[in-house]
Amino acid sequence: MKVTLTDQQGPKISKYIYGHFAEHLGRCIYEGLYVGEDSSIPNVNGMRIDVVEALKNIQIPVLRWPGGCFADEYHWKDGIGPKENRKKIVNTHWGGVTENNHFGTHEFFELTKQLGCEVYVNGNVGSGTVQEMQEWVEYMTMGGESPMANLRRENGQEEPWSVKFFGVGNESWGCGGNMRPEYYADEYRRYQTYVRQYGTEKIYKIACGPNIDDYNWMDKVMQIAAPFMDGISLHHYALTGEWLDKGPATGFKEDHWWSLLKSAQKMDELITKHSTIMDKYDPEKRVGLIVDEWGSWLAVEPGTNPGFLYQQNTIRDAMVAAVTLNIFHKHAERVHMANIAQTVNVLQSMILTEGDQMVKTPSYHVFDLYKVHQEAELVSSYGETDDTVSYTVSKKNGLVSISVCNFSLDEEKTLDFSGAYSGKVVDARYITAETMDAHNDFDHPETITIQSFDGVSTTDETVSLTVPPMSVVTVQIEQ
Ligand code: AHR
Repeated sequence: MKVTLTDQQGPKISKYIYGHFAEHLGRCIYEGLYVGEDSSIPNVNGMRIDVVEALKNIQIPVLRWPGGCFADEYHWKDGIGPKENRKKIVNTHWGGVTENNHFGTHEFFELTKQLGCEVYVNGNVGSGTVQEMQEWVEYMTMGGESPMANLRRENGQEEPWSVKFFGVGNESWGCGGNMRPEYYADEYRRYQTYVRQYGTEKIYKIACGPNIDDYNWMDKVMQIAAPFMDGISLHHYALTGEWLDKGPATGFKEDHWWSLLKSAQKMDELITKHSTIMDKYDPEKRVGLIVDEWGSWLAVEPGTNPGFLYQQNTIRDAMVAAVTLNIFHKHAERVHMANIAQTVNVLQSMILTEGDQMVKTPSYHVFDLYKVHQEAELVSSYGETDDTVSYTVSKKNGLVSISVCNFSLDEEKTLDFSGAYSGKVVDARYITAETMDAHNDFDHPETITIQSFDGVSTTDETVSLTVPPMSVVTVQIEQ
């Protein structure tokens, strides 16, 4: 397969495309990220050291919180002040378990400080008031004297925090209030008015966008509210079949390999069509498409709480991650941020934990291999590849980075990249597997891990990569 690289100036791939999502759901926050100060699991101010270190390694740029569906039932004042006084509530969406609110606003900012990442706070439109949302923003970002700034100080935080991204409702067409697009668009205009800018930093406001291919929702919300937003969300999960009949995460048949990948590839069509609608109202592409929930949604691990969405993660999920990130890169002009669901122990997570043990999933390793593309310039290219290969080429700091995902089950693929680039190979690494449901677990944490890749060769004109089946490769070459 021959691919020609061009020297046309491409868009920058925002690092926020590599964002993550952590909801009060199952064991994502509690146990996964936060164990509390008194835990025997090594922690700093309650945050797991092993998990924080692992996420720092993949350069997590932004974390979305507190939901998801949980966001539209979350009342932030329940989660501040002395922990022993915090209200215990029922997490109605996720297993009906008791939520003790020990992880609240202060803990979230402590976590993101340790991670060194930006925050994306999702506000409550479904069951919250405009005043509640306004006061939360004031509590977090007001530097001077004010009722909420003073309350924050009473709770131990003198300086305001920085809130880079703020979402006004989540899935307002469903769990966030079952609204119609015209109604939501008007509500969005009203709520966002009170997401005030108290400091010098502008808050990037995100409207609730469509579910999958609900093009009418995108059209109406953009038509009515586009001038009031910086971004609009899109949710699309990869499924093996029907929504109500989720396929197993391991031990699946070949047809589920293909159906999951096909569902993931649909992201390309969705972004293309939603962008076309956005172009009608925003031809300058000022408004970002924010894919703040994506990833594989599979059957829960047998014996676990169905409301906790705990699923294993195999080389197939690594393929989903690589293919989807390549799609986001291609649409980098419009896609300003994406947040894979969800960081730890939920859906397509980066990390699984059990007590004090932790494993990195194959998806984690894709984020590790792909981090070279964060803030890089996309190199546009043309050529012929078959439909089991997906790739990205980008450049940054004098290096060209080529990532290839070969999701064929049994065929090695060779790609010859020619154009303005050939030079010294400075890094070549990959993940691969022997079986289509290969995964890491607590007894075998390194079944899939990054290895050095020797399938690369260069001439004066060409860089050739011979990629084994079920593999994701990243090669870096001097420009
Ligand atoms: O990520 C799990 C759930 O999926 C989120 O809470 C919701 O927004 C979506 O339906």
